[in-house]
Amino acid sequence: MLQENLIQDISVVDDLDEARLTGVETPGHRSVYLETYGCQMNVSDSEIVASVLRDGGYGLTHDPDKADVILLNTCAIRDNAEQKVRHRLSALRAQKLKNRPDLTLGVLGCMAERLRTKLLDEEKLVDIVVGPDAYRDLPNLLFRADESGQAAVNVQLSREETYADIAPVRYDSNGVSAFVSIMRGCDNMCSFCVVPFTRGRERSRPVASIVDECATLFETGYREVTVLGQNVNSYRDESNGSLVSFPELLTRISAVSPELRIRYSTSHPKDCSDELLHVHRENENVCNYIHLPVQHGNSEMLQRMRRTYSRDEYLELIDRVKSIVPGVALSTDIIAGFCDESPDEHSDTLSLMEQVEYDHAYMFMYSERPGTYAQRKYVDNIPHDVKKKRLAEIIELQGEISRRRNHNEIGNTHRVLIEGTSRKSEERLRGRTDTNKTVIFDRANLQKGEYVDVLITDSTSATLFGSVIV
Ligand code: 5AD
Ligand code: SF4
Repeated sequence: MLQENLIQDISVVDDLDEARLTGVETPGHRSVYLETYGCQMNVSDSEIVASVLRDGGYGLTHDPDKADVILLNTCAIRDNAEQKVRHRLSALRAQKLKNRPDLTLGVLGCMAERLRTKLLDEEKLVDIVVGPDAYRDLPNLLFRADESGQAAVNVQLSREETYADIAPVRYDSNGVSAFVSIMRGCDNMCSFCVVPFTRGRERSRPVASIVDECATLFETGYREVTVLGQNVNSYRDESNGSLVSFPELLTRISAVSPELRIRYSTSHPKDCSDELLHVHRENENVCNYIHLPVQHGNSEMLQRMRRTYSRDEYLELIDRVKSIVPGVALSTDIIAGFCDESPDEHSDTLSLMEQVEYDHAYMFMYSERPGTYAQRKYVDNIPHDVKKKRLAEIIELQGEISRRRNHNEIGNTHRVLIEGTSRKSEERLRGRTDTNKTVIFDRANLQKGEYVDVLITDSTSATLFGSVIV
């Protein structure tokens, strides 16, 4: 149990096991409560959903007890993410049967896409089921379900939908950092991953609408954008006649203002070009932080995972990254206990972690997903307790490396963008360095959205502490 909690804490950004809840009330004829599970992309999608619902005449509420409609935006990447949603749905359904007969329940996102009508037919848990490319249809589906009392479903995937024209409602925002979706879907087909099935084919949003959105965000006080997609460095837009690739897109966003920081997530090592690395090097506001999911440290396992690079190729890439982008911080995703993983192969993951010295990692136990290549062709043959032990070793090692990396920051000065108050004390502020490390420091007269130089004086494996240089 303790281990499970630890895993959740560490993976919180990528795998938001705690739902994010709406924080605004807007009036409308029926009020909707939106609950978001999973990755940053889902958080961004919920902002699109909020916009579609508002335009469709629905209100938003932050109180589930007052809602007429409760929608869960779900994740299917691992079985435990799905179980969490199932428990929540069962509890909501019990409420509905007991004393809320008019409550409409809906499942959106990856679980909706994966299970389609199963949630309606076999489990009778919900009234509407809406896949990630069908959010424009939500008002219509809700209307149909309410009018007829019959379940309504749209799980059609699209080759074009990017929601480019929809202005997200940033209902849970700190007013400083925002997510901007730039592409959807994934064509990579890693053998363990359900995402290509739940999110469909890759497609990119036109560059002008992205740059406009970033410019509007800057004008309204935002100082950091994280551009999002399942595989951002496959971004390509040819809608204006000439090709705009991901490095070019970043360059254009970076020209919005030197005061607007740019991050991105998530990328595949195979597409991390020197051109992209030079964009990091040459544009101060393109952050010195790159997430490069390795998944495993052994070449045969990588082949079985269909990652298209070997251990050596990945390590060569890391050398290039470090030499072209001095001072870069790196993070990664790692899977423990994939099919047929031997003790030696597991050790290769540990040795790769030592060699790269990641600043941070998101670490997972392999979870077999129905319909994936791995589920069809391999056997999920590593016992649960062995997976758990290997994952614990990975987490422990990363804890040591993160502690060491952060300790080395003591005495350095970082430019920090203030995002709000520290969770532990109103008297202290919280921000992040260019390299994506959280820093806590005294409030003084500073406000969120400002940049300050902070001298680092102390550290843990997760946080830096410092004092503002005036
Ligand atoms: N089991 C465990 N982890 C997985 N991931 C993707 N699919 C699975 C799975 N079936 C992890 C990968 C990916 C991250 C978003 O989730 O590490 O990079
Ligand atoms: Fe899944 Fe691989 Fe695509 Fe990432 S790159 S979303 S792990 S298939």
